[in-house]
Amino acid sequence: MLLSAARCLLLLLVAAAAAAAVAFELEEATVDSIRGAFADGDLTSRGLVELYLHRIAALDPALHAVVELDSDGALAAADRADAVRRLASAGDALPQPNGIPVLVKDNIAAAGGGGALNATVGSLALVGSRPAGDAGVVERLRRAGAVVLGTASLSEWCNFRAPGIPAGWSPRAGQGKNPYVPSATPCSSSSGSVIAAAANMVAVTIGTETDGSIMCPSSYNSVVGIKPTVGLTSRAGVVIISPRMDTVGPICRTVSDAVHVLEAIVGYDPRDAEATRLASQYIPEGGYRQFLNIDGLRGKRLGILRKDFFRFPSGSIQQKVFDDHFNTISKMGGILVDNLEIPSMNIINDAVQSGERALMLAEFKLSLNSYLSELATSPVRSLSEIIDFNNKHPVEERMPEFGQSYLLQSEVTNGIGPTEKKAIAKLNELCERGLEKIMRVNKLDAIVAPGASAHSLLAIGGYPAITVPAGYASNGVPFAICFGGLKGSEPKLIEIAYSFEQATKVRRPPTFQHSVV
Ligand SMILES: *[C@@H]1O[C@H](CO)[C@@H](O)[C@H](O)[C@H]1NC(C)=O
Repeated sequence: MLLSAARCLLLLLVAAAAAAAVAFELEEATVDSIRGAFADGDLTSRGLVELYLHRIAALDPALHAVVELDSDGALAAADRADAVRRLASAGDALPQPNGIPVLVKDNIAAAGGGGALNATVGSLALVGSRPAGDAGVVERLRRAGAVVLGTASLSEWCNFRAPGIPAGWSPRAGQGKNPYVPSATPCSSSSGSVIAAAANMVAVTIGTETDGSIMCPSSYNSVVGIKPTVGLTSRAGVVIISPRMDTVGPICRTVSDAVHVLEAIVGYDPRDAEATRLASQYIPEGGYRQFLNIDGLRGKRLGILRKDFFRFPSGSIQQKVFDDHFNTISKMGGILVDNLEIPSMNIINDAVQSGERALMLAEFKLSLNSYLSELATSPVRSLSEIIDFNNKHPVEERMPEFGQSYLLQSEVTNGIGPTEKKAIAKLNELCERGLEKIMRVNKLDAIVAPGASAHSLLAIGGYPAITVPAGYASNGVPFAICFGGLKGSEPKLIEIAYSFEQATKVRRPPTFQHSVV
């Protein structure tokens, strides 16, 4: 029997779709697999942007990871990246992010692409504000040919509006959802960046962290987060809470992808001069990719703060998983230094006692007012006007009243006075007697901790960390292992994290998405 013409056509289409699927797999695509598909002519940057826009349209109504999309700007940037690649000769090494789509957290200004993305920190008070240009990290991404697709959702004001607000919620994007277990927390504040990466809505994302905001959501959503040493990446054009602690970093699905992005965004920026100049000394000659070393655990000394961080019910999945991981680390040549203790951990973990809260309140007002003063246009120009806006629009009708106690407490601060100087001295002392001492005395290359448990220890000194997927709890919620170290120790942390990731390969994509797309 002859096949009907329609059936023939259908078979051809199916065959063509199958061929394309073999040539390029969108799900779990990496910077390297995308570059490979570009090079083989199986994919263009424009095609990739279209695939991700399609996926975002399908998934975001359920996941709330995106605040704004700049589709036209992204397609134009993709065309430029495609043209650059067409014109490049065989031997030219294009920057790693060339043609790769990226979502940036909604506290990072991305106005320079002509596409008018607004940075609103999730707040309706900032709708209609226009940054004068790109944030320092966005400038670097664009220079490397990355395609800025849009902004990712977050906890409003990076979790600094008031205590008790649901993690990942903002009046602009609603409640961000953990794609593994939608009823579980996504953790925050870089929730949208993390959800988007986890659910394959984009190739790579950028988040920010003051104290836990990259590490915690990365852990809960099975992705890799790098929280760089403070100053390694510029904070210019970013709404930050604390210049002492805030840092901008990549959130991706693999260590290698995160390292490709890190390499593109580090460096001196005259608009964040002091911190980026100081941290520039840490940038290794030849960049960070050379530390993607499969044997990177060999000879590394890893400290386990057992009492403070590894408190699991005996017989729990976490306990078994971390025991397995420690065995793997030993087999890979890592040296575990167990049962270490930092005497003041209880104070470090208490933001009031450590001085961290007092400093954050004062620094937030200074940084926010300075950011707002630099905007090209804005309906609000100060923290006090934002507080007025919130009073006039009591929480945005959609959620119960949350209040704004952190904003109010911040507003009554008055710069870095005696209280804040005392807080700084206390934090410095906690660092010196805490992480600095334990690393020195035990000759450690890194500390290891589950999930984001070490976030305050690492926040107060501006120290770096990398989280890598480590397992899934009995309810299906992912958890990570975190490697942290002294300032500038990214090369070691990358070796450790990459070697661990390659030996364990724990990450798997959330399964719901197969039925959605
Ligand atoms: C930015 O905000 C303006 C209005 O405030 C809006 O017209 C524009 O569409 C927004 N940009 C994007 C990309 O959504």
